[in-house]
Amino acid sequence: MSKPKVLISSKIPQEVEQYIAEHAELVRWPSDRTLSHEQKLAFLHDVEGLLTTGGGIAVNEELLQHAPKLRIASNIAVGYNNFDTAAMKARGVLGTNTPHVLDDTVADLVLALMLASARRVTELDQLVKQGKWQRGKLKDEDLFGLDVHHATVGIIGMGRIGEAIAKRAKFGFDMDVLYYNRSRKPEMEERLGVSYRALEQLLRESDFVVLMTPLTSETTRLIRKEHFELMKRTAFFINASRGQTVDERALIEALQEGLIRGAGLDVFEQEPTDPNNPLLAMPNVVTLPHIGSATAKTRFDMAMRAAKNLVAGLKGEAPPDLVGELRE
Ligand code: 8YV
Repeated sequence: MSKPKVLISSKIPQEVEQYIAEHAELVRWPSDRTLSHEQKLAFLHDVEGLLTTGGGIAVNEELLQHAPKLRIASNIAVGYNNFDTAAMKARGVLGTNTPHVLDDTVADLVLALMLASARRVTELDQLVKQGKWQRGKLKDEDLFGLDVHHATVGIIGMGRIGEAIAKRAKFGFDMDVLYYNRSRKPEMEERLGVSYRALEQLLRESDFVVLMTPLTSETTRLIRKEHFELMKRTAFFINASRGQTVDERALIEALQEGLIRGAGLDVFEQEPTDPNNPLLAMPNVVTLPHIGSATAKTRFDMAMRAAKNLVAGLKGEAPPDLVGELRE
């Protein structure tokens, strides 16, 4: 009995590859040449499983037409905005993600962006490295940042990662924690001592606005110019969700016009972002290459969890992390 074919679209740890190879035949796009989109799709005609990253392959109608045997697409990511869940549901194709295993790693990175932007860490690291730290030459305004401790953080999108950020902010930095979410979470409010606010009110009250929503049709460009106009001029905007949840042009204008004090960004509308993106030239903006979950342990755990989802699906079992839209 031949093993089902599985396309692996990104590099994964060897141990994970060995685990999958016990249950499936692994195929990859050849790395010795650049394939066109059409050539890539042609590889899928007899593939039954797909292992991809959040920013990887769009599992949409076009792909599904080229993959008639596909039974499961497994994301090595918690975000699954690359899934057209309606098209997948129509064809009975399963889709899975990797929740839980990255929550703390991403939350750490969000606190790092808050600290780095408020205390000007990357800007002043550059100043020292450029030999500009000279006795008596620097004025207070060249060095002074804003406190993170005891400030107010507003979290937009209070899922598991949002809660992990709230815990760090509340119990690690004595911050007031506000949140805006589609649904209120009274039990969580009680447990963590955080307060719900309507979006506009959260924007008015927060010293740090943290965007942590999944990317959906509802959250695409959720934050636009009128939202930055509500924020404090001393406030920082932090985004570690998806670049498309904010109108990036509006963010650039808000920074250029001094509507907000700075920003910490791990995601961009286009990734990798254009080297000429004006955000990259702003000293009060910390920019990172989508490393929210980028630790060896967490990425290993994500890959192994995605592999287990994949194999379960190929065996005809219910994968542990079937995404909500595809659950019965
Ligand atoms: C992934 C992420 O590493 O999990 C997610 O949703 O954004 C990251 O953890 C990224 O999607 C890889 O492309």
